[in-house]
Amino acid sequence: MTASSDTAAQERDAKGSCVSPEGRILEMVARGMSLSHVLDGFCRLVEEQAPGVLASVLADLAHVTRLTTLGQLAPSTAHEVNQPLPAIEQMIVGHSEVMRRVLKAVDTVAPTDSTVLIGGETGTGKELIARAIHDRSRRRSRPFVTLNCAAIPGGLLESELFGHEKGSFTGAHARRVGRFELANGGTLFLDEIGDIPLELQPKLLRVLQEQAFERLGSTQTIRVGVRLIAATNLDLAAMVADKRFRSDLYYRLNVFPIAIPRLRDRREDIPALVDHFMRMCACRLNKPVEPVSPAALQALTEYDWPGNVRELANVVERATITACAGDLRFDLPPGGDRNASAGREAVSIAAAPGGVLCEAQIRQQERENIAAALRRTRGKIYGEDGAAKLLGIKPTTLLSRLAKFGLKPTRQVPLASAQVT
Ligand SMILES: Nc1ncnc2c1ncn2[C@@H]1O[C@H](COP(=O)(O)OP(=O)(O)O)[C@@H](O)[C@H]1O
Ligand SMILES: [Mg+2]
Repeated sequence: MTASSDTAAQERDAKGSCVSPEGRILEMVARGMSLSHVLDGFCRLVEEQAPGVLASVLADLAHVTRLTTLGQLAPSTAHEVNQPLPAIEQMIVGHSEVMRRVLKAVDTVAPTDSTVLIGGETGTGKELIARAIHDRSRRRSRPFVTLNCAAIPGGLLESELFGHEKGSFTGAHARRVGRFELANGGTLFLDEIGDIPLELQPKLLRVLQEQAFERLGSTQTIRVGVRLIAATNLDLAAMVADKRFRSDLYYRLNVFPIAIPRLRDRREDIPALVDHFMRMCACRLNKPVEPVSPAALQALTEYDWPGNVRELANVVERATITACAGDLRFDLPPGGDRNASAGREAVSIAAAPGGVLCEAQIRQQERENIAAALRRTRGKIYGEDGAAKLLGIKPTTLLSRLAKFGLKPTRQVPLASAQVT
């Protein structure tokens, strides 16, 4: 409260003496009034001093609370800031050469204020890397704010980024602060940056260059200090060539690019990731960690993981939830690649305790093996490149086994559940 507003707000009480607004509040407290009465008095006082400010603050509070609940705003707490950071390898699993290079890049760029552009397929860990950069930066005691540009309709994106004033467009019932303002002093993570509409790109470029912008419906320039980390699974350079992304913004974003490799290009990380997620799930679900059989681990390692680490985490979580008496079952779409995974029956890889197969499991394993051979030969049975030759059996034997297992030698081989321990 300023000195002039103090004077304006001073009023005379019943005895004629001058009472300041703060005095009124303190008096209420001294008289032992209930907290709700004091709060009520405080709100009236604020409204007298600055009409409308309380409504704006409450609207902002509701907005910030919603973002925090959604995990899109992570203010650091003092005790976290004072704690020594866990080693990056404890949070981000990856011993492969390619992942080591990524982690080294994180360590190099984190202490700077440079813009980082993270590329990689969905589920490769782009957001995890962005958080690691923020946590290792000087900004880690300030908020980490995220926004997925693809999840917001184009028309609303500008308001989400820069905020708006009350009444600036239909539906703008209250003033709203944007993500750049919320991230002031901290880091803004813009996911799926390739989806930002062309017409909004100059405004984003300006805030990156000048750290200044205006809320929608306002002429007042707001200055901030925000570090930007952007991520995309699109080829921005190709989009620039196609004129679907502005080249000036691309060059401004591409200061320090980090490309996260696909999981199928770093299969050696899979066993450690399986172990990591098994432990996390076991802890969360309060269940003991089940041993994963070598065969199951091999199948998990050979699978192509089109959804990358996110898909792996989900498969492990499902297996941990359904695990019963040491029986761990991983459900993978058969075929192991993006094209084969759609519309096919799931292959179940179970880890039986003790590594011993029962009769039914052996039959299922044989059935899956034949199905795999037919997939490899595209349904061809006879000849040098046929499935019989691949399996080392006579074509007539293969035909009788196909009948026994209900398999058809067509290109679209129906897959059955297989159990491997
Ligand atoms: N190398 C990794 N080590 C541990 N967890 C990971 C790793 N990579 C990804 N994850 C986890 O996988 C999930 C998907 O990662 P995320 O960062 O959201 O991917 P993206 O943003 O690329 O889609 C998250 O739960 C994340 O914590
Ligand atoms: Mg993401």
